[in-house]
Amino acid sequence: MSDETRQHYDQFAHRYDEIFLSRQRDKILKLAAYVPRPWSTPCLDAGAGTGIAGKVLSHTFVNVDISAAMLSHAEDPRVIADVQNLPFEDETFGFILCVSVIDHRLDIELSLKELTRVLKPDAHLALSVLKTEDVAHVEWTLMSIFGRLEHRLDLGPDVGFITRKQSHQESASR
Ligand SMILES: C[S@@+](CC[C@H](N)C(=O)[O-])C[C@H]1O[C@@H](n2cnc3c(N)ncnc32)[C@H](O)[C@@H]1O
Repeated sequence: MSDETRQHYDQFAHRYDEIFLSRQRDKILKLAAYVPRPWSTPCLDAGAGTGIAGKVLSHTFVNVDISAAMLSHAEDPRVIADVQNLPFEDETFGFILCVSVIDHRLDIELSLKELTRVLKPDAHLALSVLKTEDVAHVEWTLMSIFGRLEHRLDLGPDVGFITRKQSHQESASR
């Protein structure tokens, strides 16, 4: 976990929604629109920050973040944890959202493998990365884990990816 990142967001938390709410809302709404409903529960917002996704989608997510101050603005359930080492069993979540979290301070392979580990078979991961980050590395890693991308989206400041984990049946027939 990056102490620098956590401290940055801890200090910035009280102003985050004022500055980023409308920008993040647009990305979240566009990403979520590509994921077929109903979403199998529980759902995870990895790097949830102030929990904007749960609020704009009117849906309960397990809000996970390394910054307690960011999470203090989010709704329950809230868990302080690192996306690189999540405190959940394999195949727990029916949908995972991860918006503007993966950056150069994280181990991309480790983070994406950890999100995949806790994703149920046949469930979707909707992830966005700022265009200023190493988008090609993220895209390549997603392709190598999932085999294919369902959608690649232009979200303004971010690039969005929608992927689906194979069902047990699909994995068995490979
Ligand atoms: C740009 S904000 C995005 C927040 C939220 N996803 C949104 O769309 O508004 C990035 C968030 O990722 C969190 N974060 C950064 N690195 C993390 C890590 N390793 N594990 C969990 N959360 C992390 C930060 O604390 C911050 O709340």
